[in-house]
Amino acid sequence: MAERKGKVTVVGAGFYGSTTAQRLAEYDIFETVVLTDIVEGKPEGLALDLNQSRPIEGFETRVVGQTTGVDGTGYEAIAGSDIVVITAGLPRKPGMSRMDLLEVNARIVRGVSENVARHAPDAVVIVVSNPLDEMTALTQLATGFPKNRVLGQAGMLDTARFSYFVAEALAVPVGAVRTLTLGSHGDTMVPVPSRCTVQGTPLTELLSAEKIDELVTRTRNGGAEVVALLKTGSAYFAPSAAAARMARAVATDSGDVLPVCAWVDGEYGIAGVYLGVEAEIGAGGVRRVVAGELTGSELAGLTEAAEAVRAKQADVVNL
Ligand code: NAI
Ligand code: 2OP
Repeated sequence: MAERKGKVTVVGAGFYGSTTAQRLAEYDIFETVVLTDIVEGKPEGLALDLNQSRPIEGFETRVVGQTTGVDGTGYEAIAGSDIVVITAGLPRKPGMSRMDLLEVNARIVRGVSENVARHAPDAVVIVVSNPLDEMTALTQLATGFPKNRVLGQAGMLDTARFSYFVAEALAVPVGAVRTLTLGSHGDTMVPVPSRCTVQGTPLTELLSAEKIDELVTRTRNGGAEVVALLKTGSAYFAPSAAAARMARAVATDSGDVLPVCAWVDGEYGIAGVYLGVEAEIGAGGVRRVVAGELTGSELAGLTEAAEAVRAKQADVVNL
């Protein structure tokens, strides 16, 4: 029987939160997965449903659903959480940019963060609410947690989308493809073709520069492409896989180097900003940012992305 330990909380039981809770429970490594939402009965109902899948899927992790009030009622359920994933907030509608969500989601994320700080003061917090880079910075401010204990999910998802598009273009298994995106989750996403390979062969030797550009553009617009098709709500299968994978790296103290939104303090000559970079992940969150080799234009793109998100992150103090 595998050893299960620890408690992970997912705040927000919408599409992103419920699928993240499902993935975390199905890993079967946690003692407890807690799912919360402000909609009365929704997290309890989803938890009941997930628990009823356990005999079929064969996992023993208990799922606990808890309705919470914006005043903090119900938050006792998250006490002692090792990890909290914040998915609370509105998703995009067709034609909306992630930035259109800024004010409304800032109010939600600030309130959630204050309650998390009160009830799970030792947790590592993984933020997914959009706009991602700003919400990650806001969560760190509102929790007052050390910067290494607050990180955001974007690069895992963007990288997965890029890898999938490359695999389709070359008709190879996704497992043969390694890609990387840095920068922000949005217009200033910085794909890094120089770090992309297919079975060890540089991508630049397998696809023309025009084709790589086309895949990069599709990756940058990956979220909007799904939103336009769904017409209501945004992607959640790949996003939840990304957040759950990050939580697993924390839970197992894996030391995996993953693309995440992390506090950058001097790496790449950039300091004082939450930015999409590669980072070594362990039980305490980010162990260290890993600054890999970049070409001159990739570094210029990353520096530009840092300046763009720095300006917006400065504004979150007032939200
Ligand atoms: P959704 O609308 O299905 O679910 C959001 C849930 O948050 C709802 O159930 C709502 O009741 C809940 N909620 C609102 N205020 C709350 C509060 N104060 N406390 C607890 N729960 C609260 O939306 P979905 O698809 O789950 O997306 C959630 C967020 O994740 C959105 O902001 C979306 O833009 C973002 N997202 C981020 C991605 C990334 O790569 N970082 C990718 C996909 C989505
Ligand atoms: C996504 O990239 C909308 O951020 C969300 O799917």
